[in-house]
Amino acid sequence: MTQTDLQYLFDPRHVAIVGASHTEGKIGYIILNNIIESGYRGRIYPVNPKGGEILGHRVYADIGDVEGEVDLALVVVPASIAVQAVEACARKGVKFAVVITSGFSEIGNIDAEREMVETARKHGMRILGPNVFGLYSAAASINATFGPGNIRPGNIAVISQSGALGIAMIGKTAEENMGLSTIVSIGNKADITEAELLQHLFTDDITDVIFLYIEGLENGREFMDLVKQKPRDMQVVAIKAGKSEVGARAVASHTGSLAGSDKIFDAAFKQAGVLRAETIQEGFNWVTTLAACPEPQGKNVVIITNGGGIGVLAADACEKYGIDLTSDMEMLKKTFQPVVSRFGSYRNPVDLTGQAGGDDYREALERALNEDSIHAVIALYCQAGMTSLQPLKQTIMEIQEQYGDKKPIIYSLFGGEETEAVLDDLTRSGIPAFADVQDAVSALNALYRAYEQRQLQEQEEVDIDEEAIRALLRQVADEGRTQLLGTEAKAVMQAAGLDVPPFRVVRDIEGAIAAAEEIGYPVVMKVVSEDIVHKTDMGGVLLDLDDKNEVMEGYEAIIRNCRKQAPHANIRGVEITKMVDRGVETIIGATTDPSFDKVLMFGLGGIYVEVLKDVAFRVAPVSRREIGKMMREISSFPLLLGVRGESRKDVNAVIDAIYRVGILVDRFPQISELDVNPLVVYEKGTKVLDARINIEVEK
Ligand code: COA
Repeated sequence: MTQTDLQYLFDPRHVAIVGASHTEGKIGYIILNNIIESGYRGRIYPVNPKGGEILGHRVYADIGDVEGEVDLALVVVPASIAVQAVEACARKGVKFAVVITSGFSEIGNIDAEREMVETARKHGMRILGPNVFGLYSAAASINATFGPGNIRPGNIAVISQSGALGIAMIGKTAEENMGLSTIVSIGNKADITEAELLQHLFTDDITDVIFLYIEGLENGREFMDLVKQKPRDMQVVAIKAGKSEVGARAVASHTGSLAGSDKIFDAAFKQAGVLRAETIQEGFNWVTTLAACPEPQGKNVVIITNGGGIGVLAADACEKYGIDLTSDMEMLKKTFQPVVSRFGSYRNPVDLTGQAGGDDYREALERALNEDSIHAVIALYCQAGMTSLQPLKQTIMEIQEQYGDKKPIIYSLFGGEETEAVLDDLTRSGIPAFADVQDAVSALNALYRAYEQRQLQEQEEVDIDEEAIRALLRQVADEGRTQLLGTEAKAVMQAAGLDVPPFRVVRDIEGAIAAAEEIGYPVVMKVVSEDIVHKTDMGGVLLDLDDKNEVMEGYEAIIRNCRKQAPHANIRGVEITKMVDRGVETIIGATTDPSFDKVLMFGLGGIYVEVLKDVAFRVAPVSRREIGKMMREISSFPLLLGVRGESRKDVNAVIDAIYRVGILVDRFPQISELDVNPLVVYEKGTKVLDARINIEVEK
């Protein structure tokens, strides 16, 4: 059996319940009862040393007594005997044990958990858990959980990192009429991980949408790489709990201090094509819609309503999400004029007015669904006293039957008790229907986002001088330093292909003059020393030097100031560099996240990063298209497009710089932190004014 072959976990031919209880209400009793009630067709073997019979099934005193093969064993005995019970299962040749028992690594009982896994592995048995609620799987029609018994089969898979919430979700999915392909919690992840579960669900025949409840990921990078491999028509919606802060790790750069892990989760989910819902309800709304609707074939959406008010609410929500309400008047008139009354409107939202009943909706919906230039429909209904809802319900059911797999149609029905009952019937039939207009529009938006073309990493060749970078980093490491000098960092950036104004490091006045003449005036002079951090405060920086005399005096002044203020500093020389023109200052950063590894940051310089924290993140390396999206996420982005008569800046050159930094940190993992600050952007091109790089010295 390969590591990822979880077929018999989800589709076991025969199951055992080790710790099946004679006592009603105990977990070992509920599970057995749920398995029987769920219509499982394989053989069921309750195991309990007391023997006898439970719920009409013969009880085996020992799993070793079972004559036939057992694919799956649910272990529900106390922690003190669970390891032994698992060993007995493994010896029997059971393929998977789902260990429900709590009391292992989650309370510090790590050794017993390790022993349990080692014993299982020795016999080729895999373990889900411990500390899980069991699993439901539609493939085998088995509800081996101790949650509610009324799970509906369907195409939505739920994976929960929280057991308690997972059980609550079973109840909630039943209330929401969600059809599940599986629901499973991963507990302590002693053996089987969520990555393996996902891999299985990507290839099973029944799952179309996956709903994940995540509290944290030990290896976010692996998770991302895996999710990127999902089949194109499979969607993943995730709730990530805990807006956690940056850990207690030492942070040596801007980027590090701004990269709260939650922001990185957000960015990583976007890059991997995972839709992140804010609340469980929102997540449920999205997954039911994704599970029910086909891919929209274009952007044109039409709202059909019987009330102006909710029509406007829906239109507002569409505007908020950037959903395109088609305004092709000629098409709208041709399509809807025949069905709208004198008081109605064929403009979008199409208003059928209050007296519209089932037949009017049928005609309007059919016209919309048969019109090629309409790609999705939001159908709204406000309960109007005089019309019965039954014909409307009938219409929706029939329309759904005929067109439901051709175009997305999202419904919102607003009203009293009768409306609620109709909504319930519709959702029970797998139709995306909501009480709230906002929810309907948000669900349609999720559908659009899910089908946005996922970006594949561009395998583009870039001219990065890896040899030069390697040599520079090696030299710093050899000297036992973890931070590069500004000049070394700039040299790395230059080798990575960023535009760095010419600079030289000189050790005497003659050298300073020669360098300035070669570079061309005006120049900037800066002391070069790893021991002097605040160079300007020490009198170690001089700007805008226009001629030979100023350079001579400047050199002397810098050396004099620094010797006086920092007598013990190792002064390596003075940097002479070209004084560049003003432009828009931006910052590119990179840091190392404990879960996602190298992440990139972008923001505008000055107050935008320091005060407003207006920054965006992505996991490195990033494609150019994704960098474009990342840049547009910051609210100060319009400053690059030119405001108040300012010219438009070279956005493509910034994209190129971020792209190269992404490749740099990806290829040189020893770079732990990096800031290009500022990267000045002009109408044409960019320039690196200063850079800072920290490395981790290899062990
Ligand atoms: N093999 C099989 N069954 C055995 C056994 C063995 N070696 N030794 C004892 N049993 C039987 C018991 O006799 C009992 O059956 P009975 O009620 O007919 O007498 C049954 O197994 C259960 O044992 P019991 O000692 O009554 O345990 P329990 O039911 O009180 O608790 C757990 C067992 C697993 C439920 C409990 O230890 C636990 O971990 N609870 C938390 C579960 C949880 O929340 N998990 C995470 C969810 S997200």
